[in-house]
Amino acid sequence: MDGTPAFLRSRFKETFPHSGKPKFFRAPGRVNLIGEHTDYNLGFVLPIALDLASYTAAAPDTQGKLCVRSESEGETREWPISSIIDLEPARDWSDYVAGVARELILAGYDVQPANLFVHSTVPLGSGLSSSAAFEVSVALALLNGRDIPPLELVHLCQRAENRFVGMPCGVMDQYASVFGRSGAALQIDCRTRQHQPVPLPEGIAIIAVNSMVKHELGKTAYRERVDECAAAVRIIQERHPLVKSLRDATMRHLETFGPAMPELVYRRARHVITENGRVIEFVKACEAKDLERMGRTFRESHESLRHDYEVSCEELDFLVETALAMPAVFGARMTGGGFGGCTVNLVAPQAAADFKSAIARKYEERFGTAPAVYDCHPSAGAGEMQF
Ligand code: GLA
Repeated sequence: MDGTPAFLRSRFKETFPHSGKPKFFRAPGRVNLIGEHTDYNLGFVLPIALDLASYTAAAPDTQGKLCVRSESEGETREWPISSIIDLEPARDWSDYVAGVARELILAGYDVQPANLFVHSTVPLGSGLSSSAAFEVSVALALLNGRDIPPLELVHLCQRAENRFVGMPCGVMDQYASVFGRSGAALQIDCRTRQHQPVPLPEGIAIIAVNSMVKHELGKTAYRERVDECAAAVRIIQERHPLVKSLRDATMRHLETFGPAMPELVYRRARHVITENGRVIEFVKACEAKDLERMGRTFRESHESLRHDYEVSCEELDFLVETALAMPAVFGARMTGGGFGGCTVNLVAPQAAADFKSAIARKYEERFGTAPAVYDCHPSAGAGEMQF
C-alpha cells in the first residue's frame, strides 16, 4: 500500500503502456472528531483530513474512452465518453467514477477521454470516508488541472453520491477531503458551508481503531435516520414554521413538541440537537486546552449515538468501553456513519504505543479479528501532486 510517486507512475505505465505522461491527484479520507449525523441536519461537524488518501493518475486517451483501473478492486471499466451521460448505476465501485463524470458534464465541464489509475490507502468501508476521497480524486483527475471553485467540487461529488450511487449522505466527507488543513480540525457549518480551522491542543494523540466489520444494515439505517429527522422537523414546523431543519431546533422545542412525536423520532431529534451542542462544547474545550472536557464530550457523544440514534454496534461499543477503561485515554467514540468501521480515541501521547497494542490484543481476544489502528494527523486537502 503506497501513495508514492514512483509506485503510482510505474503502476500507471504497466496498466496503460501506450498512454502519455500522467498527472497525479490526491484526495484525503477523514476522521470525524465530533458532530455525527448532524451534517444532513445542517448542523456542525469537526473532521480532520487524514494522511490516508485516494490517489488518481490520469492521462488523456486517444480512443474516445474513459477507462478506469481500480487497484483496490483489481478491476478495470471503460465507457465511450459519449455514453457517460446515459449510464445507469452498476451498483459497484464504478458508480463513483461514472457519477462524478456525469455531474461534471451536467455542471458544464468538458470531460475529455482519459485513462485513470486509482489507488487508495484509505481502508474501504472503515468509516474514514474512502468513498468521498475516491470521488474527489477522480473529479480532479477528470478536470485534469482545470480550475474549479472548491465548494463546487464538494457539492458536485456529494451530488454524485446522492443521485448516482444512491446514498443520501451529507456534505461532511467531501468537504473535509477538499478543505482539509494540515495541523487543524475543521469546524464546518453545514448550513452556511463555511468552516474555521480548530487547532488541536498539544498533549493529545488521535488514534482510530478499525473494528474491521461493516454491518449490512448500515445503508438502510442511514436512510431511515434521514427520514426520521425529517419527520421530527415536520412536527416542530407545524407550530414553528421558521424551524427548517434540526439545526434550528432547540431542547425547548423538543420538550414542547416531544409529546406529539413518536418516541423513536423524539430520541433521534434529541441526539442531533445535543450533538450540535457538543461540537461547540468540544471546540471550546480545545481552545481552553481542557483535555478532560474534550474527553467527556466524546463519551457523551458515543452514549447518544448508541442509545438515542442507535447506530453503534457490539464491536464499536466494546472498543469504546475497553478504551475508556485504560489509563491515559481521555475519550473514545464511534466515528462516521456507524454499524462498524472505526472508533476515534483521544490518548496521552506517551501512552499511545501501549494503548494501541492493548486494544488490539483485547479486541482480537474477544472477536477473533485483529483491528487495524491508525495514528491520525490532520493533513492538507485535495489537489494535484507536484513532483
Ligand atoms: C457518513 C456520511 C456523512 C455523515 C456521517 C455521519 O459518513 O457520508 O455525510 O452523515 O456518515 O456523521
